[in-house]
Amino acid sequence: MGVVVSLEDSKNRQASVKPLVDLTKGDMERVNQLILSKAGSDVQMIPEVANHLISSGGKRLRPMLTLASAAMFGYAGDSHIKLATSVEFMHTATLLHDDVVDESDLRRGKSTARTIWGNQASVLVGDFLLGQAFRMMVDVGSLDALDVLSTAASVIAEGEVLQLSVAKNMETTEDDYLQVIRAKTAALFAAAAEVGPIIAGASRAERNALKSYGMNLGLAFQLVDDVLDYGGSAAELGKNVGDDFREGKITLPVILSYRRGTPDERQFWRTAIEGGENGDENLEKALALITRYNGLGDTIARAQHYGTIARDALAPMPASALKSALLEVIDFCIERLN
Ligand code: IPE
Ligand code: IPE
Ligand code: MG
Ligand code: MG
Repeated sequence: MGVVVSLEDSKNRQASVKPLVDLTKGDMERVNQLILSKAGSDVQMIPEVANHLISSGGKRLRPMLTLASAAMFGYAGDSHIKLATSVEFMHTATLLHDDVVDESDLRRGKSTARTIWGNQASVLVGDFLLGQAFRMMVDVGSLDALDVLSTAASVIAEGEVLQLSVAKNMETTEDDYLQVIRAKTAALFAAAAEVGPIIAGASRAERNALKSYGMNLGLAFQLVDDVLDYGGSAAELGKNVGDDFREGKITLPVILSYRRGTPDERQFWRTAIEGGENGDENLEKALALITRYNGLGDTIARAQHYGTIARDALAPMPASALKSALLEVIDFCIERLN
């Protein structure tokens, strides 16, 4: 006898971030106000550079995680607004710095700050935003929240440096790669989701559940991001595709295709990534190899695996609209095109 899968179980509609957006709408308006006011400075260049990036939007996923995870445990104060703003500022600062490190020209559909104001201004304004983030955390006065977010800040930097140290090295393993993305991306998702239960006075088990949800969601998120760098469209993404290849960044689609390839194909990868022969013709060839070895499909399969762990982390939580919204965000992050 075969296993009968009910039709209702098979998903046939696109997952959406809308339920989370709707549930956090009022609070997000306050966060957006605070973002604008805390990006202000008498030094005119600071709001100019910061607002260029801030006004071009972004999904605002991380602050919504903080707001939702505080609300989930009945938080009734005001501190979640400051913490959510801190989280988004940490993200914004990271993007300003990251586009310098990656020499990227396009972000959120606009020229990057570094192409307009230069690398120095981008780094320094990123530092300002990071400083503002920490001032807001201190305002909140929760040492536990400060601990979680300041740890995330240093782990993110460690992840970026680790990535730098394995760049252009085709012997990078999937484990090395996971270590990088856990630090550079997942750590902030984890911290964003953990500070909600912290300020709400939730139990250690509840904190850990939300932290695990955020961590695994973040891993899935970055895995999909690395798929989109080869398989997405610049128009939808608002950033250029093929950047990872040109930078010699070793992401999972490349690791899988390299490991599964013939000796000749592996030589191609070394020439392209380690030897820097990364023009359009070689990008085409790389894409063909990634397709041959199902590099994108299997990276998405890994993302689904972490998505399932995120889902199970929330399983013990009582049913609620917020919980459903957080669960739907997992599928949204895996299906997203930008
Ligand atoms: C971009 O993050 C940086 C990564 C971790 C890949 P997002 O895709 O969340 O960026 P915005 O804020 O929506 O622009
Ligand atoms: C984004 O990383 C920044 C961090 C997570 C620290 P990437 O360099 O991989 O992402 P994009 O493609 O520039 O957004
Ligand atoms: Mg980068
Ligand atoms: Mg980048």
